[in-house]
Amino acid sequence: MKTAYLETYGCQMNLNESDVLGRRLLEEGFRLVDAPEGADLILLNTCSIREHAESKVLSRLGVLKRLKNGDNERLLGVTGCMAQRLGGEFLAKAPFLDLVIGSGAYPRFFDALNARVETGRPQVDVGFAPDFTMEDRPELAPGSVKTFITIIRGCDNSCHYCIVPFTRGRERSKPIGQILSEAAWCVAHGVREITLLGQNVNHYRDGEFGLAECLRRVAQVPGLERVRFTTSHPGYMTDDVLVAMAEEPRIMPHLHLPIQSGSDRVLASMNREYTWAIYKRLVDRARELMPQMALSTDMIVGYPGETEEDFQATVRALQEVRYDSAFLFKYSPRRGTVAAGYDDDVTTEEKQRRLAIVIQTQRGITDERSARFVGQEVEVLVDGTSPRDQHRVVGKTREFKNAVFPGRPEWIGTLKRLRVTETRGVTLFGDPIEPAAAQGAA
Ligand code: SAH
Ligand code: SF4
Ligand code: F3S
Repeated sequence: MKTAYLETYGCQMNLNESDVLGRRLLEEGFRLVDAPEGADLILLNTCSIREHAESKVLSRLGVLKRLKNGDNERLLGVTGCMAQRLGGEFLAKAPFLDLVIGSGAYPRFFDALNARVETGRPQVDVGFAPDFTMEDRPELAPGSVKTFITIIRGCDNSCHYCIVPFTRGRERSKPIGQILSEAAWCVAHGVREITLLGQNVNHYRDGEFGLAECLRRVAQVPGLERVRFTTSHPGYMTDDVLVAMAEEPRIMPHLHLPIQSGSDRVLASMNREYTWAIYKRLVDRARELMPQMALSTDMIVGYPGETEEDFQATVRALQEVRYDSAFLFKYSPRRGTVAAGYDDDVTTEEKQRRLAIVIQTQRGITDERSARFVGQEVEVLVDGTSPRDQHRVVGKTREFKNAVFPGRPEWIGTLKRLRVTETRGVTLFGDPIEPAAAQGAA
């Protein structure tokens, strides 16, 4: 039996696509292995979002090519966004590659693999296949409690810094019936929490169904405890989604709402299609409907033309919104995007300085947002045991905080209540509440 090794870079959508490809590889008779040494097929599922993401892949390939030395039977391939972006150029950078399969071409993955085996020549496929023809069910590791379902692929926005519209193509929504049957299949295989994925889930549409209805329907799948979704675009977030979150207890009260910048001037130059005032109004409305909800964000500092004043507006936005957590990035120019044509007048040192400031600012806010749970009872979906201590279990709260507490492996896949005693970063610690006491409290 042939063996395959898959390594994933980038976002949750890439993780999900690796899981789907993993299942297809199993169906084609491969065995999945945990290390590249000895694998017959080695695949890197790549990301292009920033320069750093691509250089990580190139240096990893530099290591992996040694495993291939002289062995023409062992195949090394790249899939995902960097493969899509570079296409044939990838072979020029890494001539030892056997497969370059872009994120649009997954449904034809095995055609390319077979062609490589038959011809002995490297295969490149970066055409966008009509989507969702490939069964999208992920490979679930034994005991998986949580998984992802991609509901919309591609991105029709054009944020001026972003490579994703190039690597992911136009938007294609998955039919609601297919989402529900994939969700039911996952639940039948032990899954209790599903995160619906898309670059802009707010653009989800199947006939009369938008994101709100999709969330409500998935939340009703028998046996499923929790539904999440990401990523939302603040310019397209509609009130019905916030109302669905507030009304349906199985839709979790956590919103990832990338702000990118707090300066209207920079937001306009990024082509984000909202202002700070519109963004803040959305946050206020969400918190009015769900006072306990958690909010997270993405932010880019050092964008071309970002002045000290613009940057201060971004720091103020962090302080005013008070996110539970934030992914903070230095701007990285991407070839072919509009912003790559701008004069990048913020020096590397200044980008680094601004990044350090927002990281430092957010650190205190993250601590404060976790500390609000001390003394409270939270609900945790237990998804594993602590790697450091078999007598402790780990999971996520409804608000997407990590939780670690004394417990037993039999609890995996069940909801437990925890009284929080202590926090560190986004992690909550505490004591489980026994079922009788939990019922008494309810
Ligand atoms: N679709 C999502 C995010 C996709 S990429 C959205 O619209 O929000 C994830 C994050 O990477 C972005 O939110 C942005 O903060 C960051 N990012 C994207 N392009 C970048 C670039 N060229 N340089 C630095 N960060 C970038
Ligand atoms: Fe990129 Fe903007 Fe699309 Fe998000 S919405 S993937 S940031 S272009
Ligand atoms: Fe990276 Fe592609 Fe995701 S560029 S962030 S893997 S959509």
